[in-house]
Amino acid sequence: MPDSVNIGKTQGTVGTMAVRANLIHTPRRGAIEAIADALIVVSAGTIDRVVAPATADHADLALAFAETGRLLTCSPHAVLLPGLVDLHVHAPQFPQLGTALDLPLDRWLQEHTFPLEARYADLAFAEATYSELVATLLANGTTTALYFATIHLPATQRLAEICLRQGQRALIGRVAMDHPAQCPDLYRDPSAAIAADETRRFIGFVRTMAGNGHRLIHPVITPRFIPACTDELLAALGALAGETSCHVQTHCSEGDWEHGHVHARCGCSDTTALDRFGLLGRRTILAHGNFIDSADMDLIAARGAGIAHCPLSNAYLADAVFPLRAALDRGVHVGIGTDIAGGPSASVLENARHAVTVSRMLEDGVNPDVPRAARGSPSSRIDFREAFYLATAGGGIALDLPIGVFAPGYQFDALLIDPATPASNLRIGLAAKPDDALQRIVYTAQRADISEVWVAGMRVAGVSDHRG
Ligand code: GUN
Ligand code: FE
Repeated sequence: MPDSVNIGKTQGTVGTMAVRANLIHTPRRGAIEAIADALIVVSAGTIDRVVAPATADHADLALAFAETGRLLTCSPHAVLLPGLVDLHVHAPQFPQLGTALDLPLDRWLQEHTFPLEARYADLAFAEATYSELVATLLANGTTTALYFATIHLPATQRLAEICLRQGQRALIGRVAMDHPAQCPDLYRDPSAAIAADETRRFIGFVRTMAGNGHRLIHPVITPRFIPACTDELLAALGALAGETSCHVQTHCSEGDWEHGHVHARCGCSDTTALDRFGLLGRRTILAHGNFIDSADMDLIAARGAGIAHCPLSNAYLADAVFPLRAALDRGVHVGIGTDIAGGPSASVLENARHAVTVSRMLEDGVNPDVPRAARGSPSSRIDFREAFYLATAGGGIALDLPIGVFAPGYQFDALLIDPATPASNLRIGLAAKPDDALQRIVYTAQRADISEVWVAGMRVAGVSDHRG
């Protein structure tokens, strides 16, 4: 547990402070850096310096911060990690977490998801579920989340206010979906013009929201997916993306049905169609991308767009494993998404662990009746270091935000893994080397092991919140 320095639980600017901890991060994909007893100097939420013990002024700095009550000393047995980045969350779907996953995507949407999302016309329902979701994600170490909300402007504005109030870095989209053939009457934008206009109003709302001067919250242009949107709406949102430089998010080549639908309608892949509509840019995040081919990957990489890899959701609602290694090798930015509630876990760490697992299954193949040489896709695996990178720095790069690494100029978004917390399953104490410690964290850490969480230097969650 950290000592008594309390750096606050509400949003605002904090002065210069220092955190003393054993840190582990992955500044480059596949490369771990660990600094025992590091001093991280944080000014107004941004990292000024990361000072290793061998540095000449380490001891003097620690003393100076301690004497002025601005040193936060973490347990010598705990590990400080960069905050986790969830690149794909459907905030309104939290109430159906872990249900109906035996259905195919189109039936799951029509029979369960759209009726649930329609309920967010009720602001009290939105307030209750969104508050619980944001608190849950923070407790799981998710310091940045990229959210789909619903078509309701007031409830989406409320989600932005709740994230700001609870101190979570959030990118939020009011969902646009106007296609009469794919969206039910009870849950559809009345017209492309109204959907585009409300998207524009939401962007204005977030950019001028009181207390959001430091841009903790970002608006996102959010066409649900091509099947749910008319060409008119996609073109209007593409123009808005060009005009506002906002982030864009949508679903892309998720499963056979959706991928085939887009080919039949547009005569090309989702990726090419989105590009033609002006929706594929440096700040675009495509969810899933399971059926992108090498030409799609090259186009996504050329535009600098990113993919939210959602391994658990893909196991249930998609029809294939995302070709992660191939995408990385072609220079595509990739991060991890929970895809709540297509995925039944609220934990980015758990999804990172599954990213390793499914990559191994893709490489080895899954059908024992097929001879070994023909069973899998060679060279598909990633390891725990790459998975952790995707869950932190990779998500930050995809979002074009300075998060996910402990380095000057980056935000101090962090979580403390403490094997001494009650109910911990972790066996870090047995592991002498940082590489081993990170491996154990990626494979076994749970919410119960996360003792403290900070966003932009503010403490936003921790185990002490749950004690009586
Ligand atoms: N495609 C369109 N909408 C959705 C959604 O809510 N979840 C998933 N997984 N895919 C979608
Ligand atoms: Fe999704």
